[in-house]
Amino acid sequence: MTVEKHTQKMYDEFGAEYQKTRDNERPERAYNEHMELPAMLKALGNIKGKRILDIGCGAGVHAKKYMAKGAIVEGIDISKTMIELAKKRCPKAKFKVGTFKKIPYKNSSFNIVTGSLCIDYLNSKEMSATFKEVSRVLKKRGLFFFSNESPVNAARDKYEDKNIRIKATGTVLFKKTGKKLSLGSAFKDWIVEWEMVPGMLMKTYKHTFRTQLLALRKAGFELIDFIDCKPTLGFKKVNPDDYKIFSKFPIFSIFVAKKK
Ligand SMILES: C[S@@+](CC[C@H](N)C(=O)[O-])C[C@H]1O[C@@H](n2cnc3c(N)ncnc32)[C@H](O)[C@@H]1O
Repeated sequence: MTVEKHTQKMYDEFGAEYQKTRDNERPERAYNEHMELPAMLKALGNIKGKRILDIGCGAGVHAKKYMAKGAIVEGIDISKTMIELAKKRCPKAKFKVGTFKKIPYKNSSFNIVTGSLCIDYLNSKEMSATFKEVSRVLKKRGLFFFSNESPVNAARDKYEDKNIRIKATGTVLFKKTGKKLSLGSAFKDWIVEWEMVPGMLMKTYKHTFRTQLLALRKAGFELIDFIDCKPTLGFKKVNPDDYKIFSKFPIFSIFVAKKK
């Protein structure tokens, strides 16, 4: 089964459960709401009257916020479950089931395309093809904002033995033995398998900064900004430990690109 089919199956089966944890069940784990979403809204600035397509729109969390800022919003997602949730959350926006591979809109339809934390389901070839599709549906000089795992975070490695558990980059020195361990994987694109909510086994890709930059350029974009997402003060209240870590170490970044 392709990663795309697998992703669709997982979101169709577990999407409602996943969204529940984000909406209200585990506020201390609501990383997206406390880091990516506020940074994306700030980056977008004034969007009143703009036609926005949100790709990989999920349950319509972003679409609802964009509409509240006066934008005209449509969304696509590969998962029927997620599109149903989006329609419920945001009845005034238009949503379609659809894939990034063939975005179901005509050329030059939108001022802005956004894609929040969904590009990491694509390998580098698919990412390139998707960026070309995004460029096609954007008007000339239209903007593309997409968020992804920060390349800093994507470089993190893991090490675990009976005494320690490390999730980091850099060099670790074992004082007793003098042994040095070098952690990190910043020079390659790789795939990871992980559990989003119990039973929801995801496969996502980690891409280097350069892979993403070249894919944008090949699709006719100019990179105009790159934003590391900082946690909100509200996050400090619900998860002070992670607030401290992610105030120093970004887990999400936003690429802002302009169609030439
Ligand atoms: C982590 S969720 C993010 C949802 C939403 N953007 C948000 O930030 O709340 C990723 C979404 O991307 C969608 N997705 C993944 N691969 C896709 C593809 N090839 N085409 C369309 N949607 C896809 C998934 O179904 C899922 O809803």
